[in-house]
Amino acid sequence: MKNSRMCKIISNHSIADNMYLMAIESSIADRARPGQFIHIKLPYDDSLLLRRPISINNVDLDKGVVYIAYQVVGKGTELLSSLESGDHLDILGPLGNGFSISSYVETVAIVGGGCGIAPLRYILDYWKDRSYTAFLGYRDGNSIYQLDDFEKESDNLYLTTDDGSKGEKGVITKVFEREVDMVRPQLIMACGPTPMLKQIQSIANERNIACQISLEERMGCGIGACMVCSCKVKMKDGFEYKKVCTDGPVFLSDEVILDENVQFSC
Ligand SMILES: Cc1cc2nc3c(=O)[nH]c(=O)nc-3n(C[C@H](O)[C@H](O)[C@H](O)COP(=O)(O)OP(=O)(O)OC[C@H]3O[C@@H](n4cnc5c(N)ncnc54)[C@H](O)[C@@H]3O)c2cc1C
Ligand code: FES
Repeated sequence: MKNSRMCKIISNHSIADNMYLMAIESSIADRARPGQFIHIKLPYDDSLLLRRPISINNVDLDKGVVYIAYQVVGKGTELLSSLESGDHLDILGPLGNGFSISSYVETVAIVGGGCGIAPLRYILDYWKDRSYTAFLGYRDGNSIYQLDDFEKESDNLYLTTDDGSKGEKGVITKVFEREVDMVRPQLIMACGPTPMLKQIQSIANERNIACQISLEERMGCGIGACMVCSCKVKMKDGFEYKKVCTDGPVFLSDEVILDENVQFSC
């Protein structure tokens, strides 16, 4: 059983429309891997009983600080956005498997959409010695966050917005499909809304490129006890259910079945 701990908020501020970045002082900083998440108990409001899962966005190992970047979508994240430096949060984590990169992999494509870009940020710092091409899709110019970080840490970057106010107009999957054969990544890492992940999955599977996708299923316990977060994974003779919180949230794109039961917040 994982223990929860009270951690101090160092800062919490808006970084784009509806998007916040929170720095939390925590001893988990040196254990957290890209793609893992923390499960947050919300303070002050007893009606918000369930913890909220938010991915590790980045880590400052020297300061022992974990960053989360989150979109305000409901009551829980609204409350989170109102917290201030000096407040404390009860967090459980780091939870989940996280992304992984085999030692032979040199070229990686990172594909993110909306708040699904947040869980991908720490990859660039954690595995510094890889060559990255980032494909980032945002709703519009005001929704863009952490673009500078991706520009600085990637060898190549493609940007789209739905309305064309920054970068190319349209969805990032279109650009990814157009460029992927030229970029020829050995590995794809993706996070975003279900329709986006489905397209990435089929692009990767058609070309036999290894691909890891991070799911954002609704969660209860976060530690494998309640089965609220199940998703389907292919087996030889059908499929079996896996838990997004403990078997994931990162799955191989050629094994996970993305269907309408998988929900996403962004
Ligand atoms: C492993 C994991 C990592 C995540 N990482 C991030 C992250 O880095 N940044 C970020 O902004 N969000 C992330 N999410 C989504 C985040 O957990 C939800 O947006 C949050 O719990 C919503 O809480 P709320 O009380 O504000 O919304 P609620 O009032 O509970 O719900 C508002 C809306 O959000 C949807 N929603 C609620 N919870 C989830 C959920 N877990 N997954 C998908 N949709 C949900 C609901 O269906 C509803 O439409 C992650 C989710 C998971 C499972
Ligand atoms: S959230 Fe309870 S088993 Fe995954």
